Amino acid sequence: METLEVALGERSYPIHIGPDLLARADLLLPHFSQKKAVVVTNETVAPLYLQRLCATLSSGSVEVLPVILPDGEQFKNWETLNRVFDALLGALCERNTTLIALGGGVIGDMGGFAAACYQRGMPFIQVPTTLLSQVDSSVGGKTAINHPLGKNMIGAFYQPKLVLADISTLDTLPDRELKAGLAEIIKYGLIRDPEFFDWLEINLDKLLKRDRMAMVHAVQRSCANKAAVVAADERESGERALLNLGHTFGHAIETGLGYGEWLHGEAVAAGTLIAAELSCRLGWIDAGTVARIERLFVRAGLPVMGPHLGVNRYLELMSHDKKVLDGKLRLVLLQRIGKAVVSDVATGAQIAEAIEVRCTKMGNI
Ligand code: NAD
Ligand code: GLY
Repeated sequence: METLEVALGERSYPIHIGPDLLARADLLLPHFSQKKAVVVTNETVAPLYLQRLCATLSSGSVEVLPVILPDGEQFKNWETLNRVFDALLGALCERNTTLIALGGGVIGDMGGFAAACYQRGMPFIQVPTTLLSQVDSSVGGKTAINHPLGKNMIGAFYQPKLVLADISTLDTLPDRELKAGLAEIIKYGLIRDPEFFDWLEINLDKLLKRDRMAMVHAVQRSCANKAAVVAADERESGERALLNLGHTFGHAIETGLGYGEWLHGEAVAAGTLIAAELSCRLGWIDAGTVARIERLFVRAGLPVMGPHLGVNRYLELMSHDKKVLDGKLRLVLLQRIGKAVVSDVATGAQIAEAIEVRCTKMGNI
């Protein structure tokens, strides 16, 4: 097992990464101030892992209330969130009852937001079970639900007490979801860790075959990058925005197509290639670098062309981006592999051209 820390003063917390951690009462139980827990999960994950987690909690005499939500990005909304509040209130949960999010990023984001809101904040533990959630969404305290007009628009910064990333849960993850997680892993190489990008070029096939050692390394290195960025800029007033490489375009794809049509990681992959294309048009990276980035995403089985929503529709959707400042769109762009910046220098015409050349009629998913 590897353990990292997200260093946030008195709100610091550990990230444990390794196999069979769901059985580790010694890692979970010290974080409870009350012997009562609510486990928020979904209809897919519950039959796979809920019983295992409940057995571990029960071994420490923790009373467990499971809340099983429908599965899918399209359910990351107020109606579903309210079902969590109904369950918390119905079971007389108190301010120091612990909420555990067991699942992927949708459950983690929604469970975390519920924990942030219930009685103005209850203790919260992330037990991520997808590659994407283990390398990104479970770390850093961004919690949210979607709005019909924009992804993750309603939410809060709210840090967990613990992240328990049990690598064994990835054994049951569908291939398409595994590949979606690779998009966020490649992101860390692109924005701040060029040696990791090189490592990914060499080891990608091992990750696609779910090689245990390679997987632990990729999750650990991703979490180390994320923890460092979050520790430096918890509430995204600067460096943390770099974690959004490809996301402004990607969120437009997710919202424009309807939530759940493309996976988040798929939309981020296509969005990253639009950002690389734009960086190239600004003269910051050359065409060879764009091609090198594209090759890695193609090998990962991820889309490198966005769907044809129409340039104006992209721009309209992107106008809701959380990085918009004083009405001006700011984008995460690349100066080289391993160095990203937030910039507002691209003109509307340059952005439109990059979208135009990187979007096909259907996308290439
Ligand atoms: P997801 O939560 O929808 O999970 C993907 C699918 O895998 C679901 O069908 C889920 O039920 C299933 N699943 C989960 N674990 C499984 C397992 N071990 N075996 C088999 N099936 C399993 O998607 P995701 O990719 O994990 O997360 C995407 C979400 O995360 C998006 O809503 C995105 O906005 C959010 N996100 C948040 C942050 C953040 O910082 N908070 C960062 C990145 C992404
Ligand atoms: N996933 C982007 C962030 O956590 O800031």
